[in-house]
Amino acid sequence: MGTAWQRPFCGSLRPEQVGQRVELCGWVRRQRDLGGVVFVDLRDREGVAQVVFRDHLRQEAATLGPEDVVRVVGTVVLRENPNPTLPTGLVEVVAEQLEVLNRAETPPFVVEDRVKAGEDLRLRFRYLDLRRPEMMANLLLRHRVTFEIRRYFHEMGFVEVETPILTRSTPEGARDFLVPSRLAPGKFYALPQSPQLFKQLLQVAGLGRYMQIARCFRDEDLRADRQPEFTQVDVEASFVTEEDIFSLIEGLFARIFPLAGIVPATPFPRLSYREAMERYGSDRPDLRFAMPLLELGQVAAQCSFAPLRQAAQTGRVKGLLVPGGASLSRKELEEIGQQAQELGLPGVVWMKRAPDGVASSAKKALGEEGVRQFLEVAGCSSEDLLLLAGGNERQLLPALGQLRLWCARRRSLIPEDAFAFCWVTEFPLLEWDEETQRFYACHHPFTSPHPADLELLSNAPEKVRARAYDVVLNGVELGGGSIRIHDPNLQKRVFACLGISPGEAQEKFGFLLDAFRFGAPPHGGIALGLDRLVMLMARRESIRDVIAFPKTTAGNCLLTDAPSMVDQEQLTELHLALLR
Ligand code: AMO
Repeated sequence: MGTAWQRPFCGSLRPEQVGQRVELCGWVRRQRDLGGVVFVDLRDREGVAQVVFRDHLRQEAATLGPEDVVRVVGTVVLRENPNPTLPTGLVEVVAEQLEVLNRAETPPFVVEDRVKAGEDLRLRFRYLDLRRPEMMANLLLRHRVTFEIRRYFHEMGFVEVETPILTRSTPEGARDFLVPSRLAPGKFYALPQSPQLFKQLLQVAGLGRYMQIARCFRDEDLRADRQPEFTQVDVEASFVTEEDIFSLIEGLFARIFPLAGIVPATPFPRLSYREAMERYGSDRPDLRFAMPLLELGQVAAQCSFAPLRQAAQTGRVKGLLVPGGASLSRKELEEIGQQAQELGLPGVVWMKRAPDGVASSAKKALGEEGVRQFLEVAGCSSEDLLLLAGGNERQLLPALGQLRLWCARRRSLIPEDAFAFCWVTEFPLLEWDEETQRFYACHHPFTSPHPADLELLSNAPEKVRARAYDVVLNGVELGGGSIRIHDPNLQKRVFACLGISPGEAQEKFGFLLDAFRFGAPPHGGIALGLDRLVMLMARRESIRDVIAFPKTTAGNCLLTDAPSMVDQEQLTELHLALLR
């Protein structure tokens, strides 16, 4: 029957193969014994084929149970009763040989898409979970995506280079995973949070266009879109500007998203960080729906409701129109108020047009005319509800951004199967941290300041814009990057703003600073979160669904039970002693 490589997959059978003798190997999905004939649905990674057992094979086929592994030889025929819902549903295989390769015990959950088992059980028996068609489809999609990514970058003249996994701390700002060195007592490697420094060094080396599908490690709090180890599509190139990176990534997405039936509209809209925060209260705005935050400071500053007036005088007042929100019940309005409080807003005022004039939670203080003014400026129709809140900008904008998302989800205002990409640009270079009373790099310390803002570095560092950008899809940060600093003097000034002394800079990043002295080309790049990319393409809510063997949010691998204790002997060899 030829080699294994010539054997068709169960899921690949089509009417074109009618009349052919085929060999199929797979797992029994189910078996139906109809007396004179036994039907077996045989599953492999590509799908399911129906196999018919008659005569002498009937008896053995009737003993088959779910997940038994079998090999069948038979002839492809057209089905008498076709099943148009299955890709293989027009044909079946009439078996001539049956070999039971292995029996399976009853699995802990049914290997079907309508699985009822909780995620913990599925993670413990991940190999069974992955056998389910929807999970297998995610793995196959991920493979097609990475394959196409590599092909695209190869065509664009990029070279894939592997960078070290056992390395030094990298500057991404999360906690490192450390690996003790046996040969150098008391010393540790760090697993890379990203290949950032190496990809920059490759530019100094003259590689020009680097890419890598790179595993990264960050010891941070986990959630649906964060894993301790994850994969980046890491990119860096010399002699490029922001525009080059934008068109490169838009071209990539135009190539890979169609693999999931999605055609991105390019070029992607661009918003500066400032615009994104003002309009959507987020640096990763979900643009599948509008609902922008509205500027109502001027009206508020003149109004007769003291809390709003004061907020406008000392901070900001912004509004949010909820389409169709005029029909919300008292209870639903109360829920919005509660949600706003949970998000840290001291209060929200609601207002709307009503058959007999206007209605508002602050109508007493504002009066009919006062409410009407807000409604006019906000452009509130008779169907909409206007929400208003005030406070200091740093808290107000993100909280209203969250409330925008909450209302949109709650009222099903987010179109299904929509894909809204955008670039967010001009992030601040530095961020002030109240707790430690110092500046931190918003992206990383090698990001170039905006040339127009260089003057501000010494007197108003918080106002300096960075040549940094994020690519965002449906409110998820898919990737981020920047044009880097290649001038050692500018790098020194940025380190000084970050409170990194020349000694410390040399100690931590000396190898990069040294390299910059020997002809560093201007360069920049980006890294995309591959897991997030495939998650959105597969229309899933968690990156765990597109990673073969993910960790739980507590950082455990339930399959292998990692992390685990190690022998005293191993600790001693590594010169380690546990504190307890
Ligand atoms: P950054 O830290 O923004 O940039 O990371 C780039 C992208 O990686 C993904 N990502 C993650 N995905 C899953 N789990 C995580 N814990 C996780 N952390 C990050 C996100 C993010 O947008 N070296 C820079 C890139 C550069 O400047 O070129 C970097 O790593 O999708």
